[in-house]
Parts: sequence; structure tokens; C-alpha cells
Amino acid sequence: MNHHRSKFSFRSLHLSLRFVIPLAIALALLAYAVVPLVDRLALKWFSRDLDIRSSLVSSTLQDPLAELVVLKERTRITALLQKATQDERLLALGVCDNDSKLLYRTSAFPKQISCSPEQPVATTNDHMIKLPQGPVHVVRTPLHFENAEIGSLVLVHDMSFVERRSADTRKYVIILFVVLGVVISLITVFVAHLSWRGWMEGVRAMMRGEGILRPFSKPTSEELQPLVVEMRAMMRNLEAERRHADDMTTVWNPAALRRLLNKQLAGDQVLVVSNREPYIHVKADQGTVVHRPASGLVTAVEPVMRACSGTWIAHGSGSADRETVDRDDRVGVPPQKPEYNLRRIWLTAEEEQGYYYGFANEGFWPLCHNAHVRPIFRSSDWQQYRKINQRFADAVVKEARTDDPVVLVQDYHFALLPKMIRQRLPKATIITFWHIPWPNPESFGICPWREELLQGMLGSTILGFHTPFHCKNFLETVDRYLETRIEHESSTIFHGGQLTMVENYPISIQWPPEWQGTLPPVEQTRAEILAELGLPDDHLLGIGVDRMDYTKGILERFSAVERMLEQHPELVGRFSFIQIAAPSRSVLEEYHAFEQRVHRLTERINQRFPGAVILKAEHHEPDQVNRYYRASDVCMVTSLHDGMNLVAKEFVAARDDERGVLVLSQFTGAANELHEALVVNPYHVEQTAEALYQGLTMPEYEQRERMRSMRALVQDFNVYRWAGRMLLDAARVRQREKLAARIGTSPVFRG
Ligand code: G6P
Repeated sequence: MNHHRSKFSFRSLHLSLRFVIPLAIALALLAYAVVPLVDRLALKWFSRDLDIRSSLVSSTLQDPLAELVVLKERTRITALLQKATQDERLLALGVCDNDSKLLYRTSAFPKQISCSPEQPVATTNDHMIKLPQGPVHVVRTPLHFENAEIGSLVLVHDMSFVERRSADTRKYVIILFVVLGVVISLITVFVAHLSWRGWMEGVRAMMRGEGILRPFSKPTSEELQPLVVEMRAMMRNLEAERRHADDMTTVWNPAALRRLLNKQLAGDQVLVVSNREPYIHVKADQGTVVHRPASGLVTAVEPVMRACSGTWIAHGSGSADRETVDRDDRVGVPPQKPEYNLRRIWLTAEEEQGYYYGFANEGFWPLCHNAHVRPIFRSSDWQQYRKINQRFADAVVKEARTDDPVVLVQDYHFALLPKMIRQRLPKATIITFWHIPWPNPESFGICPWREELLQGMLGSTILGFHTPFHCKNFLETVDRYLETRIEHESSTIFHGGQLTMVENYPISIQWPPEWQGTLPPVEQTRAEILAELGLPDDHLLGIGVDRMDYTKGILERFSAVERMLEQHPELVGRFSFIQIAAPSRSVLEEYHAFEQRVHRLTERINQRFPGAVILKAEHHEPDQVNRYYRASDVCMVTSLHDGMNLVAKEFVAARDDERGVLVLSQFTGAANELHEALVVNPYHVEQTAEALYQGLTMPEYEQRERMRSMRALVQDFNVYRWAGRMLLDAARVRQREKLAARIGTSPVFRG
């Protein structure tokens, strides 16, 4: 309704401008040029007319008057002059002698006019004098008698008729111009209206893929199709180049992100939805403590949210969460210095079991990861998943201050949420980011609710994955299971009357890193850690930081450590591998069993090589983890399958000394970016063992070279760029949507 009104007013404004402008120009021209010109011309014409009349009168009077003047016949002269002035225009006549004395005059002769050579005063070129009684035309002609000049005749014509005539002419000219102005304006409006309609039709047709603009004609003929295709490709290239230029030229930091929000998405509210909350309030012996969870998602999104403000909606999972929120279940975070709102959603144990443990983590998680764990699909879990997605959708609607907020939906817990939000807030910009891999169509096809899940995701304006490969998998999956129109070139899906852009946005971490410039030197931290572990100063350290999850390749990593020590016995007793493994989803059988296996393998290796594996299977806060990164010689990231893996980037960011080596699984998204890491196949134990050894023995200059290059990449491709690129794309989509709304096309424009 609203957009119809705005469309109408926009167009009527256009039309009225087209009407008013020519009219205004015509009137201005009239006032400043035409009327004065008409006045001047009229005066000239009438003066010339009076000049002719004057010379006619003077030549008629010449002979009789000259004779009478010589005879000084005053009475007859006056009668003659009086008779001559019966012409309505000739106001007065006077006769001067050669000494400029007025000898005779008619009764109406103006006293301001004399016979002096300088007189009549102030005559213009047109012989006009302005007298109080009105303008007069004055001409003096010599009087001759027998070839001698005996004086002069002064003829005074009344010119007030000129003003009357001028006023009449002016009136007619004004009427003529107004009529002309109106006619021209109407013609302009008419022509503009036709061409506006034609242009719009053309644009609409082209975007529908029908053809190029042809006002007053049917959609393009076939011979124009290649041109249309070319034009559309050109438009896409331009768009891609613009994106690339934006990417390259912008230095991404919190300020740049804020600027983007204010400039491109002015006034729009940002809402984040994730299952895991960024700050967890937990009851402890010493009172309530705040935990920051081990979650790549939280690590990445939290700094973005601090830059953007807004509201983050998440499951309140901490034991002291309820006690720390206000009446509306909100709490300002970070707790020390609140910068945005955390809105908590409550789940019963049953709901959490079905939605989070069940469908999300026993179904979706193994479905999307190639870790050879069978997904479990239970209908009861699926019901809970739907129900909780709806609960979060309701919360989004409640938190939204406008009907078009920017909603950032995070991860596989909320595949149904985009569509649910779209149904309630059709104008919202919904950016869904999938933090884990997307499987190939065959793998995904085993999910009993595959269609509904895909439809749910296609409620998004933009759907983001870490890598182009995951995007490709997704497009192929949709192609396989839904009736859609997919444009592979522009990576867009048209489904259910709406377009979704599928794009890759590799996630990252904040830069500068959180503790930059505030930490003790690496050597000091290393010495402290070694002391805490009771190890000698020259002991070599490896580090792994993960959740206790079967996708992380922890068992393969430990096997590589064991193999490395077998192959390089000189390092036995001189090297330890520290594994920080945050407890995760441990109520699930698969996770519980995995944890047991990790413990058993640790024990077995340590029996062979005492102190080789130091397992810290407990939660560590980010600052503690950072100390271990800084103290270690090698960091091992050996995931069997991982969307991105931010541990790799965190390690690089922590090493401001440009030392340390990263061993990185080729099955992580990070391996696409961090080429200077030692990239391995974690299933290949010998290869991984060799990379570990290479890392421990790598010359300092090589470490520096590799680390410097990786740090430059993470610095540049930081998390603000990740968010910025998505928001920029969203802003562009929004602009197109607004244009589409204005010209009345379908959301097909959104691509
Ligand atoms: C992965 C997921 C995140 C999740 C994190 C921690 O990184 O992509 O969505 O938050 O694991 O898992 P948890 O189940 O503890 O939230």
C-alpha cells in the first residue's frame, strides 16, 4: 500500500516538474526580456510615426505661417495654430524667433518647453519628454521666408496614447506567452510520460530476460536476444568489478563497518540470531562468573556486533543467565562495557534435547561434515527444531523496530528461520551465514526433510558460505531437490517468487587482535608456560585448540605426534604436544565416546613417550588460549572437515613475533587462504608427522617469511571485511529492491 503511494507521488512529482519547469521558464522570459523589448519597440514605432506627422504638419503650415510671422499678424497666426491643433494627437504649437524667444503659442503649449536651443529638455532619441501631465513628443522645425530662416515652429504631440497602446500590446503578448507555455508544458508532459513508461517497460522486460527496451512495441525479437544476454553479462561484470574495487580499496576495521552501516544502510537495525550466546553467565563458588564460549561463530560475530550495536538473540544456556537479564530478557554486553544488547531465549530441557542436541547436532552436524559419523534423524527432534526456529522468529519480529531490519541468521541451528522471518517481515534483509561445510547433493539427500530445510534457507536475501565449493554444493543440492530457477553465472536462485543470492564470504577474526600491544613479550610467556608445566627452558611445544569434537581430527593429530617421535627419537623428552579441548555436546553418545577415545589414546602415547601429549580437556577463556598460542613452536589444525577453522587464524594473529609454524588440514576452509601453512591430509599420518617435524625444525628466517605473509592476509581479510562485504551486498540488494518497488516489478530484481 505504502509503496504504491510513494510510487504514485514519485511519478506525479516527476510529471508536475515537467509541467512547471517549462511554464516557469516561459514566464521568466516574459518578465525579463519580452515585455521590456515590446515596450521599447512600440515607443520607437510611435515616435517615428509622430516624426512623420510633425514634418507633414510643419510643411503644411510652413508657407502661410511664415508669411503671417513676417507680417506679425498675431490674431491670424494664433487662429492658424489653434486650428492645426484640432488633430487629437497634436497637443500644442509654438513659434520661436531666431533669438529663441517664444513669439506665439497655442493655449495648451506646456510651460516647461521653451525655444532655447537646449530645449526641449531631456529629449530622448525618440523626441520624448516626460512632463507631469504625461509624455509628449517635441519636434522643432525651421521657418523660412524667401530663403531666409526667420524662426522655428515647435510641434508638441501628446504621447499618452503610446502608453495606452503599449499596455494593450503587453497584455496580448502575456496572454500569448502563457498560452504557449501551457501548450509546450502539456506536450512535454505527454512525451515524457510516454517515454518514462516505455523506459520502465524496457527495463522490466530486460530484467525479466525478455528483451531490450522498445517503447510502444512488444518484447524484443529473437535477433536482439544475443545483445540482451551481452548486456546482462556486462552489467554483472560491472557489478563484480565494483565489488572487487570495494574489496580492494577499503581498509576494514570497526570504524569502516560503522560508516558502511550509517551510509549504506542508514538507520537500519541489525539483529543477529545464533544458538550460542556470546556471554554466558554461570553460577560458581565465588558468585556469578561470565564465560566466553569456545565457538568459532561467536569469535567472529562478536567483534562485528560490538562495531554495529543492535541486538543479538541467542539461547540463554548459562546457569545464571536468567538472573542477569531484565524484564524483557535482555542484558547489555560485554558485561564490563555494554555495547549491544543480548536477548536471551529460554528452552526447556526437552526442547534443547530435540532441537539442539537432536536435530542440529546428531542430524545436521554429521550430515554436513565428512567425518564418517552417521546422522540420526528423529521426527520428534524435527518437531522441536521447527518449534524453536519459530520461537526465534517470533523474537526477531518482537525485537525489530522497523519493518525492514537487517537480520544476520547464523548457522545450521536455524535453517527454517529465514522463511519464517520473511513471512512476518517481508521487507527485512535476511543474511544467513552457514558456518559449517555444505555437503554434496547425494549426502544431503538422505535427510528426510530436505525440501523443507532448503525452502527455509531460501527465505534469505543472501546466503553465505565460507568457500566457493560450498556454494556450488548448495546450488547443486537445490537444483536436485527443488523446482527453482538457478542462474549459475550470478549465483542466484529464484524460488517461490523471491531471489536469493548465494555467495562465498570467508570468515575471519578481528584485527588488530584483542590484546595487541598489551601482552608481555613472547619469550616471557613461553618461559612462564614452560615453568607452569614443569618443563625445561629449551623444551619444544606444539599446540592444538579445539572443542572436543570428532570432526577436529584430534585422534589423527595425536597419532601424527606419536609417529613423529617414533621417526625422530632425538625429540623424545624434548617435545610435548598441548591439546586444549573444550568440553562440547558431551551429553551426546558420539561425543562422549569420542572423548573417551581421546583420553585413551593420550594415555597410550604417554606410556610410550612420557609427557608427549598434555591433554587439557576443560574450558579455557580466550586470553588463556592466546598465551599458549604465543608460547608454542607449532600449531596443529588437523580437522577432518571444517567450514573455515578460526584457530588457524587466531594462532597467526597471536604471533606478533613472526615466529611459529602452522600445520593445517587441507580439509579446512582456512587452507584456501593460508597458503604458507604446512598443508596436510590428516588421514595421512606419516605426512602429518613429517609436517610436524618440519615445523619444529624450520629455520627462523623461513618461519618469519611464512608468518609475515599469513599475518598480512589475516590483517587485510579480517572479520570486518567479512561482515562488510555481506552488508554491502545486502545494501545493493536493498537498493535494487527499492528501485523494483518504485517501478513495480517483482523481487526478481533482487539478484
Ligand atoms: C561450530 C558451529 C557453531 C557453534 C560452535 C560451538 O563452530 O558452527 O555454531 O557455536 O561450533 O558449538 P556449540 O554447540 O557448543 O555451540
